[in-house]
Amino acid sequence: MSDINAASSGQFTLGDIEINRLGYGAMRIVGDGIWGPPKDREGCLATLRRLPELGVNFIDTADSYGPEIGEELIRDALYPYDGLLIATKGGFVRHGENKWAPVGRPEYLRHAVLMSLRRLNVEQIDLWQLHRIDPKVPQDEQFGVIQEMQKEGLIRHVGLSEVGVEQIKAAQKYFPVVSVQNMFNLVTRRYEDVVDYCSGQGIGFIPWFPLGAGDLAKPGSFLDRLAKKTGFTPSQIALAWVLKRSRVMLPIPGTSKVKHLEENVAAADFELSDADYAELDALGHAAPETPGPGA
Ligand SMILES: NC(=O)c1ccc[n+]([C@@H]2O[C@H](COP(=O)([O-])OP(=O)(O)OC[C@H]3O[C@@H](n4cnc5c(N)ncnc54)[C@H](OP(=O)(O)O)[C@@H]3O)[C@@H](O)[C@H]2O)c1
Repeated sequence: MSDINAASSGQFTLGDIEINRLGYGAMRIVGDGIWGPPKDREGCLATLRRLPELGVNFIDTADSYGPEIGEELIRDALYPYDGLLIATKGGFVRHGENKWAPVGRPEYLRHAVLMSLRRLNVEQIDLWQLHRIDPKVPQDEQFGVIQEMQKEGLIRHVGLSEVGVEQIKAAQKYFPVVSVQNMFNLVTRRYEDVVDYCSGQGIGFIPWFPLGAGDLAKPGSFLDRLAKKTGFTPSQIALAWVLKRSRVMLPIPGTSKVKHLEENVAAADFELSDADYAELDALGHAAPETPGPGA
C-alpha cells in the first residue's frame, strides 16, 4: 500500500465506469518522437505496474503511440486490467518521428478498433476516442461508423479529441459523448468554452499536455513562488490547478519514470486555495502558450 493515492483527487463516472480523476497518459512510454520502442523498456513497465498501486485506474493510450508499442506494453504490464479503465484512441497513421496524419475513412476506423481490441486482448474497448476528426472525410461518415461499432459492442463508450463545441454537438446526434480530450493547461487555454460545455453536460474533459509537455514541471517558472510557499512541486501545482478548474477535469500527466509518476499522483492530495487558484489563473493567462503540436 502507498500513502499516495489518486483516489484523493475525487471520482468521476465516465459512462457507467467510475474512475479516480487523476489519471495517467501513456504517450511517453515509447521512443523519442513517439516512434519505436522506449529506450528503457523495464523502466516503462515498472512505471505502468506502479499505477494500480497508486490508485491510478484511468490510463490513456492510442494505437498510434509507437505505433502499436504503447498498447502492447500496457497489455504486457497490466493485463487483465482488474479495475482499470484503459482508454485508447484511433484515427491517426504515422509516417515517422513526430509525424501524424489523420485518416477517418470508415473502413480505416473500423480497422483501428479491431486492431486495438486484438493488441489489448479484450472483447470490448471501455473508452475509444476518435483521435482527430479527419477534415478530408465527411464528419457524418466518421461518426456513423463509430455509432455502428458501439451498437455491435466493440466499443463501450465514445470520446472525441481536439474538437470544438459544434463538433461535440454534431457527434452527440450519433452517440453519447462521454469524454473530450483537448490540449489544455495553465498557459494553453484556447478551449475554455469546451471545458464549460463539458462541465454543463457532465462530459469528462481530459486535458492533454497538463504539464505543458514537461515545461510546467521545470523550476524557473511563475509556479516557483507558490512552490516555495506550499512545499509542493511545480508539476503538482499545475495538476492541482487543472483539477480545480472543473469537476469534470480528468488530467492524464505522462511520464516514463516511477519517480515522476509518484510526484504527479501526490498532487491528488493538494487542494489550491481560492486565492492561489485565482493568482495562478491570471499568471497562466499572461504566460506564453505551450508550443504544440503533439498527438
Ligand atoms: N489527444 C491528443 O491529441 C493528445 C496529444 C498529446 C498527448 N495526449 C495524451 O496526454 C498525455 C499527457 O501529455 P504528455 O505526456 O505529452 O505531456 P505532459 O503530461 O504535459 O508532460 C509530459 C512530460 O513531462 C515530463 N514529466 C512528467 N512528470 C514530470 C515531473 N514530475 N517532473 C519533471 N518532468 C515530468 C515527462 O518526462 P519523463 O518521462 O522524463 O517523466 C514528459 O516529457 C499523453 O501521455 C497522452 O496520453 C493526447
